[in-house]
Amino acid sequence: MCGIVAYIGPKEAYPILVKGLKRLEYRGYDSAGIALIQNNEIRLVKQKGKVSDLELLASETSVVGSIGIGHTRWATHGEPNQVNAHPHLNSDESIAVIHNGIIENYAALKEELQKRGYIFKSDTDTEVLVHLIDEILKIEKCSLKDAVRLALNEVSGAYAIAVISLKEPNTMIGARKGSPLILGIGENEFFIASDATPVVEYTKKVIYLKDEEMVELNRDGSFEILTIHNEAISPKIQELELKLEMIEKGGYEHFMLKEIFEQPKSIFDSIRGRIDSNEGTIKLGGLEEYKTRILNAKRIIIVSCGTSWHAGLLAEYLFEDLARVNVEVEYASEFRYRNPVIDSDDIVIAISQSGETADTLAAIEMAKQKGCLILGVCNVVGSSIPRASHAGCYTHAGPEIGVASTKAFTAQVSVLTLMALWIAERKGTMTPSEIKQILIELENIPSKIEKTLENSVDQIKDIAKKFYESRNFLYLGRGYNFPAALEGALKLKEISYIHAEGYPAAEMKHGPIALIDEEMPVVVLANNDSIHEKIINNIQEVVARKGQVIAITTANDVEINKLAKHIIEVPETVECLSPILASVPLQLLSYYIALMRGCNVDQPRNLAKSVTVE
Ligand code: F6R
Repeated sequence: MCGIVAYIGPKEAYPILVKGLKRLEYRGYDSAGIALIQNNEIRLVKQKGKVSDLELLASETSVVGSIGIGHTRWATHGEPNQVNAHPHLNSDESIAVIHNGIIENYAALKEELQKRGYIFKSDTDTEVLVHLIDEILKIEKCSLKDAVRLALNEVSGAYAIAVISLKEPNTMIGARKGSPLILGIGENEFFIASDATPVVEYTKKVIYLKDEEMVELNRDGSFEILTIHNEAISPKIQELELKLEMIEKGGYEHFMLKEIFEQPKSIFDSIRGRIDSNEGTIKLGGLEEYKTRILNAKRIIIVSCGTSWHAGLLAEYLFEDLARVNVEVEYASEFRYRNPVIDSDDIVIAISQSGETADTLAAIEMAKQKGCLILGVCNVVGSSIPRASHAGCYTHAGPEIGVASTKAFTAQVSVLTLMALWIAERKGTMTPSEIKQILIELENIPSKIEKTLENSVDQIKDIAKKFYESRNFLYLGRGYNFPAALEGALKLKEISYIHAEGYPAAEMKHGPIALIDEEMPVVVLANNDSIHEKIINNIQEVVARKGQVIAITTANDVEINKLAKHIIEVPETVECLSPILASVPLQLLSYYIALMRGCNVDQPRNLAKSVTVE
C-alpha cells in the first residue's frame, strides 16, 4: 500500500528515486510523484498512473537535485488523480511530505487546521501532516526534526514518512509507525525506503526502523535515530541478504512467470537444513524454545488474508491430519472485530508473505493481549509480523514482486507441512516411517515441479487459448485439494478479471451446479488420492450438464481421461503434498489467460502487494 523512497547524498537524486519507485510499484500504482530541492525551491513532479507516466512528465521539465523524496500510491483517501498524488506540500511550498499508511484522525485535524486558515488542495489524509509540520515550525521556531516529531505526537494511525524542507536543505527526516521503513546507509549518503529493493544496489548496510522511531539524516554523513517521544536510540546496523538479481526479471517477460518457475528453488530453500529424511526428523529452531507450550496446545488458530489464508486452510488439513491438533482458520479481518473466544493457551499462527498485512498484524496483537503464543510464518525478514511474533519459521521464497502470490504460497505450504510434522514427531501422532515418507516426498517436490513446468506449458497455453474469453470459471477440489481450488480461482480472478469461484467439489450440488452449462469451464483438482472415486463422481455430474472439464490429474488416469476434455498431468506424490503440485498448473493457466486478455499480469488493477491498510 504505497511505496516511498528518499535520497540524500552527493549524487543526483532523480534517477535513484525513479528506479526505486519502479521497484516499489508492486505496493501501489495509482499515481506517482517526486519532490527535490532544486536551487532553493521544491521541485514537484507528480502524475496519475504508473511511474512510467511520471517519467514522461518529468522528461519535459528539469529535475535536478541531490536531496529528494518519491512516492507510488495505492489510493485510500481521495481518488487516484494528480492532485491526490504524493508528495504533498505546505502552502508556501517550503516543505514536502510522502506518506504510506493512514492518518486516522485526519478529519478532526483537518477541520482544526482549516479553522486556523490552512487551505487544503487534496482529499488525502496525508496533507494534514505537511500543514501540521508547517504550523509547528512557525509557532515553535524549532528544527524540522522537532516539528515532525511534535506533529507525529498529534496523529493516530499508521505512517511511514519522509520529509524535506527548504529551511533545512541539508537534512531529511524519516519516521514510521505501523508501516515499514528501512534506512540504507551508504558512503556519505542515505536512503529511506518502504523495503530494501530501492537500496540494495547502493549499500548493504541497513537499519529497520521500529514503530514510533524516527531518523534525522544529514548531508555531512551524520544521522540520529530517536523515538517520537524524544528518546535516543542506538542504531542496530544490519547486513542485507538481498541480492540485486533476486529483484530483476532475469529474462522472463513478467515477475509472475519468473516466480512460478522459481518454485523448485523457493521450496528447496524453505525446507533446506530443516529436515533429515534419513532419520525422519524435523529441525525448526524457531519453535524449540516454545516446545512445551506448542505440544500442549489444545487449539491452533490460524490468522491470515488472501492467498496466505488459503495456505492457512491447507494447514488446517495438515495439522489435524498429521499432528491431531484442533485448528481454526480465520480471516484476520473478521477475527479481529468478532469478539472471538480465545484462550491463553491457544497458539496463534500468523501467515503472511509481506509480514506487513494490517489486518493480520492487528489480529495477532489482539491474540497477544489474551496471552496467546504467536508464531509467524512470513517471507520478508525483519518485517512487522515476525517482529510482533514470539517465534516462528520464515519461508525462504525470496522476494516476491508479482502482485499475485505464487512461490510464496507453495513455500508457505511446505513450511506449514514441516511445522505439522514437527509436532507429529514430538507428540508421536505419526510413526517415524510415516514421517520419513512425507519428508522424502517433500524433498522430491522441487524436481516434480520442474517436471511439471517442463511438460505442461504448451498444453496449458492451448487450454488458455480455448477459454480466455470465458466470463466465469468454477474450480473444484476435495480434501487437501479444496484450498488449492480456492487459490486457483483467486489467481484467475485477480489477474484476468474473470469471475471465478472455488468450491468443495461435493458442495457443488447444493447450489453452484445450477451455473453449469456448455459455456462453463470447470477446473477439477483430481489427484489420485483417498477420495479419487468421489471426485470422479463430481466430474460425472459436471459432464452430465455439459460443463467443460479441465482436470488436473496424476499420470495415466484412465477413468478421468475418458471423462475430461482437457487434462493437465502432474506427478504422483503423497496426498498431503498434492496441492503443491496441483497449484503450479493453475498458476500457469491464470498467467496465460491473463496474458491473452491483455491484462497487466504483474500489476493487476486495484490491487497492491502489501496491504498495510485495514
Ligand atoms: C493474492 C495475494 C493476496 C495476499 C494477501 C495477504 O495473490 O497476493 O491475497 O495473499 O493480501 O498478503 P500477505 O501474505 O502479505 O499477508
